[in-house]
Formats: sequence, C-alpha cells, structure tokens
Amino acid sequence: MKHFINLKDIPAKDLRKIIIDAKKRKKLRKKLSTLDVDKGTPLKGKLLIQMFEKSSLRTRLSFYLAIKQLGGSTLTLRPDELHFSKGGESIADTAKILSNFGNAFMLRTDSDEKLNEFRKHLSIPIINGLSPGSHATQVLSDIFTVEEIKKKPISKLKITWVGDSNNVLSSLIAASIKFSFKLNIGCPKSYQPNYKIINYIKKNKNKISIYNDSKKAVKGADVIFSDKVISMNDKVNKKRKLKSFNKFKIDEKLMSLAKKDCIFLHCLPRGKEVDDKVFLSKQSKVWQQAINRVHVQKSILLYCFGKLG
Ligand code: CP
Ligand code: NVA
Repeated sequence: MKHFINLKDIPAKDLRKIIIDAKKRKKLRKKLSTLDVDKGTPLKGKLLIQMFEKSSLRTRLSFYLAIKQLGGSTLTLRPDELHFSKGGESIADTAKILSNFGNAFMLRTDSDEKLNEFRKHLSIPIINGLSPGSHATQVLSDIFTVEEIKKKPISKLKITWVGDSNNVLSSLIAASIKFSFKLNIGCPKSYQPNYKIINYIKKNKNKISIYNDSKKAVKGADVIFSDKVISMNDKVNKKRKLKSFNKFKIDEKLMSLAKKDCIFLHCLPRGKEVDDKVFLSKQSKVWQQAINRVHVQKSILLYCFGKLG
C-alpha cells in the first residue's frame, strides 16, 4: 500500500512507472466506452471513498471514471454531513471507520496538516486531491500530457510557468526536480515562491529560474503553464493581487516569444490570466490535458494499491 500526497515524497522511478502504465492503459481503451472496465478488472471489489472540502469538477469526475474503469466503485462523502467536520469526531476515529469500510481515500482539503493526520491513522491509501501546498495528481497528469503531445521526455523540454506561486506550481517545482526538467517561473516579485520552496529548490538542484518579467520567462519555452491568480480560499486582497498580475497575462504576444510550436496548458478552472484567443487557440491543449487526468488517476490508484508492475 502506498499514499499519494506530495510528488516530492514519491521516488522518481515510481512516478515514471505511473506515467508508463497510464500510457499503456490509455492506448488499450481506444475502442472501449466510458464505463467499460479495463481487461483484468484490477480493482474489482475495491471502494474508493472521496471527500471534497472545496469545489471540484475535473478531479471528482476523473476519480469516478478511474475507479470504475478499473472495476471498482466510489462513494463521495459530503464533509458537512460528517461528525468529523462539525468537530464531533476525531480524525483518528474517522480514519479507522474509513479504513474498515473502504479501500482508499481521496481527500481535497484546505489543510495539509489534515492530510498528514489522516495518513497517520488510516490503514488504507490516501490520495491528495488538492491541498494548499500541492496538486500532485494534476501535475503528474500534466507531465503525461506534455510527453504525449511533444513525443519526448519532459527532461528534454523547456517548461515555463506564468502565474501565482500556488499549489500547482509547488507540485510543478517538485516534478521539475523528480523528472529533471528546466523550469522558468514568471511572477511578480511579491508573489514569488516562499523561502521553504526556494530552499527546497536550492537543496535539490537549480534548473529552476525565477523571473519577474513574463517575457523573459517564456523565451524559448516548449510549454507554458498557467493557473488562476486567485486560488480557492486564497485569503488575500484580491484586487491588489490581480493588479500585480496585470503584466503577467498570457496573450498572443507573449505566446509569440516562446517556441513556434509551444503549447499552452491550464489545469482549469480559469480566470482572466489567459486571453480567450490563446485559451481557444490550436496551441492550447487544455481539453486533452483535462481528460488525461482519468488515465493518470487510474495508474495512481494502481500504484496506491501496489498493483503497478
Ligand atoms: N484541475 C482541477 O483540479 O479541477 P477541479 O478543481 O475542477 O477538480
Ligand atoms: N490553484 C487552484 C487550482 C484549482 C484546480 C486552486 O487551488 O484553487
């Protein structure tokens, strides 16, 4: 049994195994319908319990299809209906019950500590479906999408992030270290990654460069990533933050400074950080990026269940 919480804590060879498995499984599903089960029904009889303390469309749908396509099933709990959320039941007791009733737990939460607390008390795998510090399942799937489109290992590509120093960027930084790819970050000085992340970058290697000028950040990029300036439950002065990002909008002019065949990716939902003309252009691969999450979630589940080759 394995947990899937933060990319930085998962060995690079395991992350690579997940991507290889997802590629194989995606290929084998070409003629199958949405709810057809993969050959061998590898997670037959298994129940994935999901809980979202914050909104979700893609993560919810992709885990639903993922477990179904592996032959298992899922149940989504509403946090406001649990004793635990109202403070009447401890994480330890809740975790014990989840472990006895289900086979894996997927949690989207506003607290990294809560994830860790659950991990301590669960005897089934826990998957982080987004937390303030990480969006690991998203970023691993994005690596899959980049390699699928570019047809080469991500280590051979120049990746740029233009946007906030949020959970998705933290996972992208961890991925850059695990998969050894060059990462440029373009963001205003006052919204740079915090000192803990900077120390993590310094300790591991320095293929990561931070620019306070979006034009410099995208120069020669093969892939440009972005995300909303204001994340869910971001407790900031929204007006001020949005204003700081005025010069970091992704428009056609900015895209033209990257490589000619540069692609645009965005985990969605989007705000005003990207111009419609870019978002809806041929360079934008956001829909392919979103559906790929089903394929990668499946291999993440198999990894957690110890069923990857
Ligand atoms: N990208 C992503 O995680 O989308 P949802 O918030 O809709 O799940
Ligand atoms: N950074 C965003 C990602 C949403 C999928 C958020 O946390 O709201």
